[in-house]
Amino acid sequence: MHQSSIIILGIESSCDDTAAAVISNGKVLANIIANQEVHKKYGGVVPELASRAHQQNIVPVVDAALKKAGISKNDITAVAYTNGPGLLGSLLVGSSFAKTLSIGLDIPAIAVNHMQGHILAHFIKELDEEKEMPEFPFLCLTVSGGHTQIVKVDDFFKMKVIGETIDDAAGEAFDKVAKMLQLPYPGGPLVDKYAKEGNPDRFSFPHPKVDELNFSFSGLKTAASITIRENDDDEQTKADIAHAFQTAVIDTLVIKCKRALKQTGIKRLVIAGGVSANTQLRLQLERVMQGMKGEVYYPRTEFCTDNGAMIAYAGMQRLKAGQFATLDMKTKPRWPIDSLEPI
Ligand code: KG4
Ligand code: ZN
Repeated sequence: MHQSSIIILGIESSCDDTAAAVISNGKVLANIIANQEVHKKYGGVVPELASRAHQQNIVPVVDAALKKAGISKNDITAVAYTNGPGLLGSLLVGSSFAKTLSIGLDIPAIAVNHMQGHILAHFIKELDEEKEMPEFPFLCLTVSGGHTQIVKVDDFFKMKVIGETIDDAAGEAFDKVAKMLQLPYPGGPLVDKYAKEGNPDRFSFPHPKVDELNFSFSGLKTAASITIRENDDDEQTKADIAHAFQTAVIDTLVIKCKRALKQTGIKRLVIAGGVSANTQLRLQLERVMQGMKGEVYYPRTEFCTDNGAMIAYAGMQRLKAGQFATLDMKTKPRWPIDSLEPI
């Protein structure tokens, strides 16, 4: 059935989601994710617990992906895995699994940069879907629990970071403020929900001032913490604080995107990472891009947050370029997006 297809198994285990996906000629046949509930009670990811959960999940998740795709392991052309950046113990589970599978099946293993994966998620197609793809060059705002970056993307692997956070990532700030508001982890989606009910005139947080295209969110977190301490913890106050905090974060993201578009003269903006699900961010960026007659692109929600399909897709592009991992390639907890490795 899949004789002439290029079939890639993609494995993602950089943080707290164990994910596996199968793509055939760039189209997704299966995209399975096991979220780790164990971190909820700690209000954040506990690295040791994450790697243990990955070990428990990886075999059933890969098995479920192959079943859903209707293929056997012998149909796989290559196995792509997240080699970094991320938590070392978590990365080791996915990379060891992928390398072992590649030896057992005598197929290539392909090391993928997680941040490149988020950006390339925009090119993923579902079966028979005619999807509009951004043309190169474009700018990508990557906003997740671990990263906040503006990246200039010239080609599949030619990327340059032109702005980034100097302290917390946007998603991390959302999660920390959610925790202070006694909302469960990961709190970003809940802050988004509460903010919708918030009174915009009650609180106002200072907009962080950082040079150039860089970001800073730790001061905002402190402002939120003081306001939370000084006020009651009723539902309306939580909503009002969520609104003020979210407004300050989103305004900052939008201002920097506008500046980056102006500086580079590029009119295509793509948004990647979990925070791209934020309703206020989407609304504001759509307005900005309409105003400058440009275009804004989002991946489907399941490809915004961590997933195996983005790793499989980036792996397919690497396979086409003949770039494989060697078995002695080390996992890279820190791995800049513009690094030329692996070559
Ligand atoms: O990309 P992702 O799934 O994982 C990382 O690589 O970090 O992003 C997860 C982050 C979390 O911090 C989560 O709270 C945030 O994305 N997030 C949101 C929303 N949905 C997810 N933040 C704000 N508003 C949302 N609607
Ligand atoms: Zn991610």
